[in-house]
Amino acid sequence: MGLFSRKKRNTIGFDLPIMRLQTDIHSHILPGIDDGAQSIEESLMMVESFIEQGYTKIITSPHIHSTRYQNTKNSIQEAYGQLQSAMIQRNLNLNIEYTAEYHFDQELLALIKKNEIISFGKDNYVLIEFSFLMPPVGVDRVFNMLAEKGYQPVVAHPERYEYWYGNMELFEKLRDIGYLFQSNIHAAAGFYGGVSQRIFTMLAKYGWIDFLGSDAHDTPSVDILEQSISLPIVQTVLQKGVRNHLL
Ligand SMILES: [Fe+2]
Repeated sequence: MGLFSRKKRNTIGFDLPIMRLQTDIHSHILPGIDDGAQSIEESLMMVESFIEQGYTKIITSPHIHSTRYQNTKNSIQEAYGQLQSAMIQRNLNLNIEYTAEYHFDQELLALIKKNEIISFGKDNYVLIEFSFLMPPVGVDRVFNMLAEKGYQPVVAHPERYEYWYGNMELFEKLRDIGYLFQSNIHAAAGFYGGVSQRIFTMLAKYGWIDFLGSDAHDTPSVDILEQSISLPIVQTVLQKGVRNHLL
């Protein structure tokens, strides 16, 4: 099990068991290759903070975006190797794997065709991010292209696609196609604004959150994970069960 409970005193004095996560599947901790950690020092601080909060496994997910972050398997491996060496020097013990957060664009289509997708988990999950500005076109086609090759697409932070606010049937359509959802823990705390927070709540109530992730881009966003995880709505999601603990 990747979930465990620890007693935490709440504000009215009773001891409540707080469910936590041990595996994170969405973060930007590799140094200097996207808008996450900008130096090896920052990567190490993020790792330390994950360890302090009881995490034992991080599947980190640098951006692959055709115009902004032109990462390749090589660039990710290189940054990963750098972090691994620095962690050994510092004696930091945390199981880190890498995948990628694929932007839904032409580059993704090309990589699928070339069989160059970096998936994660035994079920070959692929983390996909849509544009924040306009709804994606061709979600069926991309799902089928990936499924034919044995991949299981996972939508990164569905609550951040505010253009679907108030239209839960559009989220349902994605689920009917077969997409799984990974929500950002901090969305529950209003980190991305009220609309994302409300969508998160709806997704939680519908039982549509398959994975939780930090989407940490810097040290402060790791440091405050514990606070967001303690929120009742996040606890509800953890009680219903997420797939993080299967990885
Ligand atoms: Fe991300």
